[in-house]
Amino acid sequence: LADAVAGSPTQRLLVVANRLPVSAVRRGEDSWSLEISAGGLVSALLGVKEFEARWIGWAGVNVPDEVGQNALTKALAEKRCIPVFLDEEIVHQYYNGYCNNILWPLFHYLGLPQEDRLATTRSFQSQFAAYKKANQMFADVVNQHYEEGDVVWCHDYHLMFLPECLKKHNSNMKVGWFLHTPFPSSEIHRTLPSRSELLRAVLAADLVGFHTYDYARHFVSACTRILGLEGTPEGVEDDQGRLTRVAAFPIGIDSDRFIRALEVPQVQEHIKELMERFAGRKCSSVWYLVHMCLSWDLVMLGVDRLDMIKGIPQKILAFEKFLEENPYWRDRVVLLQIAVPTRTDVPEYQKLTSQVHEIVGRINGRFGTLSRVPIHHLDRSLDFHALCALYAVTDVALVTSLRDGMNLVSYEFVACQDEKKGVLILSEFAGAAQSLGAGALLVNPWNITEVAAAIGKALNMSDEEREKRHQINFLHVTEHTAQEWAEFFVRPLPGQIALESAHVNE
Ligand code: G6P
Repeated sequence: LADAVAGSPTQRLLVVANRLPVSAVRRGEDSWSLEISAGGLVSALLGVKEFEARWIGWAGVNVPDEVGQNALTKALAEKRCIPVFLDEEIVHQYYNGYCNNILWPLFHYLGLPQEDRLATTRSFQSQFAAYKKANQMFADVVNQHYEEGDVVWCHDYHLMFLPECLKKHNSNMKVGWFLHTPFPSSEIHRTLPSRSELLRAVLAADLVGFHTYDYARHFVSACTRILGLEGTPEGVEDDQGRLTRVAAFPIGIDSDRFIRALEVPQVQEHIKELMERFAGRKCSSVWYLVHMCLSWDLVMLGVDRLDMIKGIPQKILAFEKFLEENPYWRDRVVLLQIAVPTRTDVPEYQKLTSQVHEIVGRINGRFGTLSRVPIHHLDRSLDFHALCALYAVTDVALVTSLRDGMNLVSYEFVACQDEKKGVLILSEFAGAAQSLGAGALLVNPWNITEVAAAIGKALNMSDEEREKRHQINFLHVTEHTAQEWAEFFVRPLPGQIALESAHVNE
């Protein structure tokens, strides 16, 4: 990470996100081991050459004692990371509660938790108070480390209060805020008891960014309808005429990293193993191609966090419908679903896990044989190289989120497919539909008949059409990278460069 954020910078950038891009494991009273997760944001910052970044966030662990906190702070400093320490009660109320039980479902149009509506309403005030308190704790850490001229980039729905906390302390600070989830229609945002406070807090920033033009438009109309402020083509103007710029900055991936990974011998070996496995047998290289043609299982892949917004049950039910209606394909296609556990302390997520297991078990019982099952479902993450190999051997990727800010799995799949030209089935409710819609088969994930038909279309698609669709998307993914995204967002912030509009289909 230190390398990722170093370079020959001229200006400091403080990146503030709920979670640091590291997982910290305590090895002793004063010793920690850190594992860096090279996620999208880390690689995005690699490309922003004129900034030297430092990361401020929660390390994801409870560290009640001072010795442990000092040791962790020291270990993280080597990675240019600065921790915010949150105790268990705050994590419960702020992170599990207000962030993931209220804002997350609401921003994804799922409403408040179904069975718990009243309990949620009652605990709302205490969770909102914890949310504000946590945001102030992040602000305190930023203020401790801030040096004049720094640019502060706040991320996501966890930190909507942060711009206001920072500006109250220092109105000259340059503050940007970017939302990684959808921003819902103002009719949805209106239902939040804290709707106005949240909007005002975000508007304290100098620049507010979203993945798509639609989310930006929803935000501006929430500000005009709920706060009665003026929306302009540039953003939102407050009662004193101060402008907060609002724009769309669609994120991308570090496509070179994926393309290069396919050349790594370990990945090539893994690709070969997977191909043999899905060809249904181990065989010598001489017979390899022949066997491939004779007994090839086409591979469909889903890679999602195990989250209700990802539409995993709906996807699996669509696959069942496809198998039901297409007996020919029953022993010729396999669905691999990688479901990465997340937010496991939140009851809704626990229920979802059991529901998915139940559906997978039923379908495998229904269509499986002694030697094969139609769905391989894994509740785990894969390391980067294994994931790239899996993307490369996939014939059809199924990204059927019910709502998704952007969805970078669709980008990663396209980056790894230049050999195979696989088909992407993509939800029209993922932000990525606005950038990869031309090459993908777009579906309404709620309509399992439509998704089942798209699976049939993808499996039977001609080589020419696959090639054509893939080329369109490959060009987009390799041209509009994470680095470009970060640069577009961060560069105008210090006020040096005029706001450049990102590539959005307005
Ligand atoms: C989404 C959010 C991110 C979050 C990620 C993982 O992509 O936009 O902010 O980090 O999910 O969720 P978690 O709650 O495990 O950090």
